[in-house]
Amino acid sequence: MQNLNKETVYSLVQVKGTWKRKAGHNVKQDTKGRVSAAKIYESSSSNGTTWTVVSPITFTYTVTQTKNLLDPSNDTLLLGHIRDAQQLESIRSSTKPMKRFIVMDEVVYNLYGSQVTDYLEARNVVYKILPLPTTEENKCMEMVLKILEELHRFGVDRRTEPIIAIGGGVCLDTVGLAASLYRRRTPYIRVPTTLLSYIDASVGAKTGVNFANCKNKLGTYVAPVAAFLDRSFIQTIPRRHISNGLAEMLKMALMKHRGLFELLETQGEFLLNSKFQSALVLEEDLIDPASLSTRIAIETMLEELAPNLWEDDLDRLVDFGHLISPELEMEVLPALLHGEAVNIDMAYMVYVACEMGLIKESEKFRIICCMLGLELPVWHQDCTFALVQKSLCCRLQHSGGLVRMPLPTGLGKAEIFNDINEETLFRAYEKWCKELNSGSPQ
Ligand SMILES: NC(=O)c1ccc[n+]([C@@H]2O[C@H](COP(=O)([O-])OP(=O)(O)OC[C@H]3O[C@@H](n4cnc5c(N)ncnc54)[C@H](O)[C@@H]3O)[C@@H](O)[C@H]2O)c1
Ligand SMILES: [Zn+2]
Repeated sequence: MQNLNKETVYSLVQVKGTWKRKAGHNVKQDTKGRVSAAKIYESSSSNGTTWTVVSPITFTYTVTQTKNLLDPSNDTLLLGHIRDAQQLESIRSSTKPMKRFIVMDEVVYNLYGSQVTDYLEARNVVYKILPLPTTEENKCMEMVLKILEELHRFGVDRRTEPIIAIGGGVCLDTVGLAASLYRRRTPYIRVPTTLLSYIDASVGAKTGVNFANCKNKLGTYVAPVAAFLDRSFIQTIPRRHISNGLAEMLKMALMKHRGLFELLETQGEFLLNSKFQSALVLEEDLIDPASLSTRIAIETMLEELAPNLWEDDLDRLVDFGHLISPELEMEVLPALLHGEAVNIDMAYMVYVACEMGLIKESEKFRIICCMLGLELPVWHQDCTFALVQKSLCCRLQHSGGLVRMPLPTGLGKAEIFNDINEETLFRAYEKWCKELNSGSPQ
């Protein structure tokens, strides 16, 4: 057995360019040098000496909602990630052209490529645009390596020339992983072009690709330096993909925000029809549902993610709809989109919550009607009870032995539950199938 007999804590102080250890937790009062937030703990035992390094790392990133991102008079795309006023001023006054490496989803390139090119030309940027078929089926390491090869050939200064990704969640996740690998961490910027990536994939720190037939099995937690959100891209995505994004928005509404739920309940169809471009058609003095709903979705998402960027805390409300859906999504790929699988999972969980007496029948009915109004599937034949059991078993294994099931406890509020018995799950499953297998509540 290890025999611990001595531990000394050292602070680190910078003196004339070099760092020195200084015994003690708090050395601020008696020192003139810069003191690091890091500490070194030294302990000795009969087995040897151990140095434990505690080095706090801070992630800072910005999420900016903007308009006319590709208008050359808007410098957000090139400079919006810089927070230091002096640095900004020196770049603005410099005559040296900026350099940018840009990866675009191929479909997005066909629609917006000329606007991006015009923007970069107008701003006198030295650039390379790499259009790629970033589909879910191609979301793999080969795509990451392809990006890295092109990036290496082009060459960027990792201190000042962030990589820019423009596309849906697949493009942003893949480029994010490439950036986090290149020279161990090269800054990157996310420009989401689908509703789902606008409210979800752009807001957090996760990157990743599929591996061994498992979703996002390889990835990193490296936040972009900035995400620039412009709703106008959403006008060209197919209606089904608007519903897909609405599922993730509904998730936040059910977990955290009754007002957002009511907005989706009353304005869901309008949001679908107007493709989130309503500011253009509504009068100025009306509250614009597109701005309001995206804003609440981003704020609620940031509230949950910011304190838990590396997902160390396993109790996460944002996991609602994501307990059974990964299994279902991979099983039927490409039949269901991510948000559709998430919605089927949420619909079943609403039945579980009702069976447990957490929500009323009338609330359950309202939620299912809202889902149908958003044109989302609420049931799927391949979501068998065996699949539910398998997914929850898998969850137990990967969540420290607890199922940590987020469930609604009313409209817009939720809690995490661990003690749900199999019988309740089954009764809820039977009701769910009976009432919804025709696609509408009875
Ligand atoms: N990193 C995260 O935190 C996070 C969060 C949620 C989802 N994701 C990931 O995001 C992916 C799903 O994202 P998605 O739904 O954006 O899918 P996607 O990237 O596959 O895009 C969907 C489709 O829309 C097309 N498209 C994109 N923008 C368009 C536009 N403006 N006009 C017309 N067509 C357009 C694309 O070519 C694609 O065919 C999944 O792989 C998921 O794992 C990541
Ligand atoms: Zn999701």
